[in-house]
Amino acid sequence: MSQISFVNNQFINRDQAFVSIEDRAFQFADGVYEVILFKNGKLIDARPHLNRLFNGLSKLSINHNFLQDEIVENILQLFKKNEMESGSLYLQVSRGVAKRGLLTPRGIEPNLVMTVDDHKEFNDEEFTRGVKIMSADDIRWHMVDVKTTALLASSMAKQKAADAGYDDALFVRDGVVTEGTFANFFFVDQDGVLVTKKLDNLVLPGITRARIIDLAKKQGLQVIERDFSLDEVLKNAKEAFLTSSTLLVRPVVQIDENLVGDGKVGEVTKVMRKLYLDFINS
Ligand code: PDD
Repeated sequence: MSQISFVNNQFINRDQAFVSIEDRAFQFADGVYEVILFKNGKLIDARPHLNRLFNGLSKLSINHNFLQDEIVENILQLFKKNEMESGSLYLQVSRGVAKRGLLTPRGIEPNLVMTVDDHKEFNDEEFTRGVKIMSADDIRWHMVDVKTTALLASSMAKQKAADAGYDDALFVRDGVVTEGTFANFFFVDQDGVLVTKKLDNLVLPGITRARIIDLAKKQGLQVIERDFSLDEVLKNAKEAFLTSSTLLVRPVVQIDENLVGDGKVGEVTKVMRKLYLDFINS
């Protein structure tokens, strides 16, 4: 575990880094966060991550005067102070500290905290094995396009899946597959078209998702963003995978008791993984 963390413009030992028990993220999950991959001294897609963070702050009306350039500089400093060349960053902004109450007093200052950790990459053997996921009712609120710290529903779904012997859960809301508990979901249909849910308030606009779509299109693959059911995936998917800043591209070989395609990692998934690894290593 890394030693140094960042709390409101101070680099401080992790075991001495605290925020108040009246921080609104602690009491109300009133905060947003980002996880950004750091690879060989380089932040991966830092700008889109920070744009999403700023969008979230604005949608939640959290006032701030953060500057993206300063945040990037502090992130790089944090990895440097921890003597890390690669890893993952956790960044959280809460609305701030206030006496407990649903209404927020005006003028409170947001809290920005950051920690860094090692990032373990999926090796070839793990990639070849793929993951098994279990469908779960998507009981999250209706603003999951904002990356808030309210992750209880995701945590419970993942725990239930793990207890049943699965690697993760796949959320389904009103018959529509939304996403994994902390990753976006793609499948490849019988015509080789890459399909993922269209963006709306019921899915996180993943930064890896956007990058994968871009890389796939440049590779000449057809990509469609639309809603689809679990039934369609089970009937029509030749391949499926999850994407996120920490999972990168992770093949899904089984959903509930059904194999995806022939239950082996598909060719499109392999190509997308290679393209993404080339991108983050470039
Ligand atoms: N989660 N969907 C959800 C619900 C997520 O929590 C995440 C990321 C993603 C993928 O987003 P991105 O490609 O921007 O990482 C999709 C992070 C990694 C986490 O909670 O640890």
